[in-house]
Amino acid sequence: MYSEKVMDHFSNPRNVGEIENASGVGTVGNAKCGDIMRIYLDINESGIIDDVKFKTFGCGAAVATSSMATELVKGKTIQEALNITNKAVMEALDGLPKAKIHCSLLAEEAIHAALWDYATKNNIKIEGLEKPKTDIGEEEEEINY
Ligand code: FES
Repeated sequence: MYSEKVMDHFSNPRNVGEIENASGVGTVGNAKCGDIMRIYLDINESGIIDDVKFKTFGCGAAVATSSMATELVKGKTIQEALNITNKAVMEALDGLPKAKIHCSLLAEEAIHAALWDYATKNNIKIEGLEKPKTDIGEEEEEINY
């Protein structure tokens, strides 16, 4: 039921860990399953994401999507990272079972939360970035794929 890529990123997740004195840290949770995701971003003076790490207390799909999401944002600009949706992450993983789609939202929201933290710390505005939700459980029902 899971693609090979999902299994690969689940068994061998990339960029696990934390970054000390990260430029931005974002934590989100899903109230329904209780899973939690934290993303650390290191952003250089040119606004490029030099490094990214994640930690999760979550299911296998959350691990795989976060691993892939960190791979996709590494080396990108803030704007590019902002535009990486959970759909893009799922596509990069060759899909997820329907019941696991919400798991991929944790990574997307955690990245947004980390960017928000970075923007707040540096007193800047990131075009298109809205205050992130810390709990994605409420929205889940309204998402139609
Ligand atoms: Fe909670 Fe996957 S079941 S994130």
